[in-house]
Amino acid sequence: MDVSKILAEMQKAMRRAGERILQAHDVLAEAKTDRRNVVTEYDRAVQELLIRLLGEAVPGARFFCEENDRHDDLGAEDLFIIDPIDGTMNFVHGFHHSCVSVAYSRRGRIEAGAVYNPYVNEMFTAIRGGGAFLNGRPIHVTDAPLSETVICFGSAPYNPELTGETFRLAQRAYETGLDVRREGSAALDLCSVAAGRAGIYFELRLSLWDYAAGSLIVEEAGGRCLRVDGSALPFDAGRPSVLAGSKSCVEAFLELAGKS
Ligand code: IPD
Ligand code: CA
Repeated sequence: MDVSKILAEMQKAMRRAGERILQAHDVLAEAKTDRRNVVTEYDRAVQELLIRLLGEAVPGARFFCEENDRHDDLGAEDLFIIDPIDGTMNFVHGFHHSCVSVAYSRRGRIEAGAVYNPYVNEMFTAIRGGGAFLNGRPIHVTDAPLSETVICFGSAPYNPELTGETFRLAQRAYETGLDVRREGSAALDLCSVAAGRAGIYFELRLSLWDYAAGSLIVEEAGGRCLRVDGSALPFDAGRPSVLAGSKSCVEAFLELAGKS
């Protein structure tokens, strides 16, 4: 099936998922691995809805998802990488800043990505080689220097051993840029970079479902998406650091990160 048709099906399914998120009530958090890593019945229900709708749209498709250990083969012919609710902590505490993130990969290469924030009805999309869009309008990373931008970061909350380094980098970023934001959704942070709202985003550990769609959107918006040491981002089940931004902002960040 043509990738643009698949992206259209993704968006249709994600809007349905967004309706479920907006209708949520009495949200109860269950701890997954520790008190910061939580899941709700809505994360699981939204994931099941997406698997059903995308499975009907692309028969035989496989899935690599955050919940329920649904981790099919990453090299599959047709694969959807799903984070049903990215920003679950925000969702549980009523911050209204969470999203649905879906990437489509064919034989181990991400070909399309979409990130949908139902609270503000923002749909970010990209097809490899075709540019990045917000609600159908082209978006680009900023051309401002890092010093003139707002910087987003994530606290890698499930990895307390990374807290010291995270906040060391965040302090340096704060001193260099205009200000910092910790908004609570990696996928939306990546889209903020793609839309030129933030100069960079970094986080010292993420999973593929957090960054698969957003990283393509950043690259298609003219940006870079790498590890924090400047090496290429892997497409596997490892949990790398992620750094995204314009070429100049990424270079400036790598320089400041290297300083002791
Ligand atoms: C989390 C969010 C958060 C980031 C974490 C992610 P989840 O995803 O993106 O901003 O700091 O590293 O795991 O658990 O809400 O889907
Ligand atoms: Ca996530």
